[in-house]
Amino acid sequence: MEIDIETSSDRFLSPEGSRDYKHEERLRPNNFDEFIGQKRVIDNIDVMVKSSNMREQAMDHVLLSGPPGLGKTSLAMLIANSLNSELHVVSGPAIEKKGDLAAVLTNLQPRDVLFIDEIHRMHISVEEILYSAMEDFRLDIVIGQGPSARTMQIEVAPFTLIGATTRSGLLSNPLRDRFMAHLHFDFYHAEELGKIIQNNSKKLDVELKDDARLEMAKCSRGTPRIANRILRRVRDFALVEGKSSIGSEHVKKSLDLMDIDSSGLDRMDRKILTVIKDYYNCGPVGIEALCATLAEDRSTIEDVYEPFLLKEGFVLRTPRGREISQKAKDHLVSIEI
Ligand SMILES: Nc1ncnc2c1ncn2[C@@H]1O[C@H](COP(=O)(O)OP(=O)(O)OP(=O)(O)O)[C@@H](O)[C@H]1O
Ligand SMILES: [Mg+2]
Repeated sequence: MEIDIETSSDRFLSPEGSRDYKHEERLRPNNFDEFIGQKRVIDNIDVMVKSSNMREQAMDHVLLSGPPGLGKTSLAMLIANSLNSELHVVSGPAIEKKGDLAAVLTNLQPRDVLFIDEIHRMHISVEEILYSAMEDFRLDIVIGQGPSARTMQIEVAPFTLIGATTRSGLLSNPLRDRFMAHLHFDFYHAEELGKIIQNNSKKLDVELKDDARLEMAKCSRGTPRIANRILRRVRDFALVEGKSSIGSEHVKKSLDLMDIDSSGLDRMDRKILTVIKDYYNCGPVGIEALCATLAEDRSTIEDVYEPFLLKEGFVLRTPRGREISQKAKDHLVSIEI
């Protein structure tokens, strides 16, 4: 069997890597009322923000974890807003030198929020700078080398660090321990996605029929970013066809064009299932061998695709590797791959 290895991970990549970035900004929730779902996370944040405002001190550091596109960056923006503070955004892997992070930290004003995205990919030498900054609002900088080396201490304004990660398991223990709250984002239920789609259809000025909204919510992989992306494509489709109101028939045609099936799986998801089925006799197969066959980066498979396949029970993780379930086999038969 010949396998086409081209990926469609564009659907899931972080906003910075996506050409939909600007549109994404437009659909971001502007206030907590527009931030749908994730009740446990929001309940915790609500108390922390209120307490910080009452104390007039910096909010405790928070670690936000969960698969891409579930709202970590959006929530960080809302938190900074509610604290009436400035948000400084940096990407973990982009900070190459200790001095870069030291410069960011020393520029913070009291109660500012520093958001470090992909914090699990920060260089360890850079990360060490954070330890004393988070705990004592102080930087310990070593100047020089060998016997003449001296430690210099620089004060940092009391700030809040919000770390975002798709893989909290990869965080070092000293860093993880310095976050006072660890909040995990779960995939969204279809009703929640339906609400998000409804709100955003108003922002995009399109009229959606109920069945269209439900169909979109069902195929959005539990992920608001994907729901938004499908919504925009469906809007384009209806516009080109000259329809003022969007029904499920438009949704079905758009999903077809986007190569998304009735369970919300895309080409890469199906490819993962097909490779395990055809090349590895339904598994088990080790993650390294699987990624080599797919010619795909391990972290992309583990961070972007696998969480949803596991959650929906298409893929099973066993001590000997990944297997596909009966549900996956039935699904592949039903879509005739
Ligand atoms: N709870 C929510 N309510 C409404 N819209 C949401 C919610 N969560 C996310 N979104 C929408 O999904 C888009 C993607 O969310 P966001 O960029 O915050 O995800 P993320 O978790 O930071 O992803 P990544 O890990 O890739 O950086 C946002 O632009 C926003 O429109
Ligand atoms: Mg983000």
